[in-house]
Amino acid sequence: MDPSSSLVWISHSHCGGQGFKSLRIHIDNLDIRFQRIDIGEKLGLKKTTHKNLTEAKTSKKDEFYTQLSDIEKELLHYKEYFKGKVVFLNCDDPEESNFWKYFDLNFKFLGLKKLIATHFENEKSSYKLEKENGDTVKTRLKQNGDFRSPECIEILKEVDIVVTNPPFSLFREYITQLMEYNKKFIIIGSSNAFTYKEIFKLFRANKIWLGYSIHSGDREFRVPSDYPLTASSSRKENGIKYVRIKSVRWFTNLDYKQRHEDYTLIKKYNPEEYPKYDNYDAINVDVTQDIPSDYKGMMGVPITFLDKYNPEQFEIIGMASSAGYSEDVVGIPFIGEKDARPLINGKNTYARLIIRHKNL
Ligand SMILES: C[S@@+](CC[C@H](N)C(=O)[O-])C[C@H]1O[C@@H](n2cnc3c(N)ncnc32)[C@H](O)[C@@H]1O
Repeated sequence: MDPSSSLVWISHSHCGGQGFKSLRIHIDNLDIRFQRIDIGEKLGLKKTTHKNLTEAKTSKKDEFYTQLSDIEKELLHYKEYFKGKVVFLNCDDPEESNFWKYFDLNFKFLGLKKLIATHFENEKSSYKLEKENGDTVKTRLKQNGDFRSPECIEILKEVDIVVTNPPFSLFREYITQLMEYNKKFIIIGSSNAFTYKEIFKLFRANKIWLGYSIHSGDREFRVPSDYPLTASSSRKENGIKYVRIKSVRWFTNLDYKQRHEDYTLIKKYNPEEYPKYDNYDAINVDVTQDIPSDYKGMMGVPITFLDKYNPEQFEIIGMASSAGYSEDVVGIPFIGEKDARPLINGKNTYARLIIRHKNL
């Protein structure tokens, strides 16, 4: 519109996702300007930016409470490790958490020396609960119970075994800290973590492995009452909300005998069924149960191979999962100058672990 021929015209400046910052109105020869003032900002209130929303969404996503039955099914396999030990639940509201309930109820049965749980608060100081000699004591913390806070790290240094369901969004950082302080642990998390380079390397070095009780399917977690439920994966019972989460696993560095049992293989190698990658000297195996029992070389297998992994039967050499080639992660030389993902006839396959038989 031509401003000179109109009675009224309006122009915005700095228009964008956040709305206008200034507004200019022309009425004939009058030119009036308005400057946008953010009242919230003037009053020192926090603005609802995209970042805040993402943070809120992320923290809501972190609020998944593990069911007692899932905790029982897993911890049953480690009873011998707990006798005389100090157990730390460092991402647990003891008033909500079934981890606290489990160890509290089984304190004598497991022969625990001490149980400690720290509660996390976003922006204020929090508290810890300690149980020893039958007494439970609540003490204020100086900090907010963040597992990374100096106060919680001091507790971590003194304990023997850490058990919890840490925030999914901080999983990488969480496990790195446990390794740094050389702690034994049993924690639950998403199988997406398999492909984080730092975590994959721990699997490859046999410093961590999957727990006993979950190797497929999904699990149900309780969520806060204000959690938005989506139809298929959630339910409400007696006012309590539950959400089914796909691909969760227990991660641990406590050994149990079943992970040393051989995985039964029935297939034999033939070049038609197991083509080689264009860019790696390795054959492709689409399904873990089809790993040929007689192939001596490198094999690319799905990441879920970890569910069947016996370190005496197989050796994990590397992982080919991202476009950027890193010899350190992939573990075998790359052929050519193309995409570093495993390619067959120029086409990408899914992420693959590179493994080989140990005893052929
Ligand atoms: C996935 S929930 C699991 C809760 C509990 N462990 C359970 O399974 O019932 C993760 C918990 O970690 C807490 N949390 C979030 N960030 C944290 C942090 N930086 N340090 C310690 N705890 C944190 C959350 O408040 C939440 O209760």
